[in-house]
Amino acid sequence: MRIAFIGGGNMGRAMLSAILNQDLTSPQNIIVSDKNPEILVRLRQDFNVFTTEDNFDAASRGNIIVLAIKPQNLEEVMPEIKGKLNKNQLVLSIIAGRSIATLQNGLEHAAIIRAMPNTPAYIGKGITVWTATEGVTNEQKEKADAILKAMGKELYITDENFIDMSTAISGSGPAYVFLFIKSLIDAAVDIGLPPDAARQLVLQTLAGSVEFTAKSGMELAQLMQMVTSPGGTTAESLKVFENGKFKELIAQAVNAAYRKAKQIRG
Ligand SMILES: NC(=O)c1ccc[n+]([C@@H]2O[C@H](COP(=O)([O-])OP(=O)(O)OC[C@H]3O[C@@H](n4cnc5c(N)ncnc54)[C@H](OP(=O)(O)O)[C@@H]3O)[C@@H](O)[C@H]2O)c1
Repeated sequence: MRIAFIGGGNMGRAMLSAILNQDLTSPQNIIVSDKNPEILVRLRQDFNVFTTEDNFDAASRGNIIVLAIKPQNLEEVMPEIKGKLNKNQLVLSIIAGRSIATLQNGLEHAAIIRAMPNTPAYIGKGITVWTATEGVTNEQKEKADAILKAMGKELYITDENFIDMSTAISGSGPAYVFLFIKSLIDAAVDIGLPPDAARQLVLQTLAGSVEFTAKSGMELAQLMQMVTSPGGTTAESLKVFENGKFKELIAQAVNAAYRKAKQIRG
């Protein structure tokens, strides 16, 4: 399996490192093009993959072509490979907000997978939501499935609209969680905890709470009740969250990301 990446930034790097970690292919079978030569030097040094600044050169060498550029760079990249791919090649786009129709028209190519991964893919703990066009063969789907599984969990869906919705949840979601982690560590330090202890307490509280939610089989309301005795410390802090409309704020943030995903969809 030869995999070409157009764009070797954060997500391109995360994907190719996951692919190599899982031995899905060898570094000689990975080709990366990027307009930033420094990125290419680092990828060569770290992974020994083949690199080029020529997107068409990269695309012509891959059975699978991963589009890992930013949405605003798609328009300049598509004409470079438009109509030049052969029908056995598969295009796998992880670009937020850019629709299958845009990719099919812009590339004049039928076999497209649209996927939305997230950055915990760096350590094999991501989740990717994906869908495929009718032009994608079962064999290609199996290969894509293996690539996505190398980055963590994957969820196949048939309705493309769910990809834009997932972008606002799992795609952008790690940033929401990192913001919460940072805010809680900062607050812990503010009340006097040493920074190392604060970090350890916050990370384990999050990790433990997530695993407890997944494994206990209990409802979230019940889990919250277990920590919240009437008139106690948790009840005091939850009142502050409620007064600050924490839940509404999260809904607004998710809606803003979803609106943006739909807006850049063309
Ligand atoms: N990061 C995430 O959490 C995440 C999650 C899910 C999906 N995605 C999607 O993944 C895609 C890549 O995101 P990213 O965070 O990896 O972005 P990134 O770090 O900026 O990487 C994109 C790379 O593409 C390069 N590039 C720009 N124009 C190019 C061109 N015409 N030809 C070749 N290379 C070009 C950029 O170079 P310059 O920096 O010089 O422009 C950069 O090195 C985005 O579409 C995003 O929506 C990201």
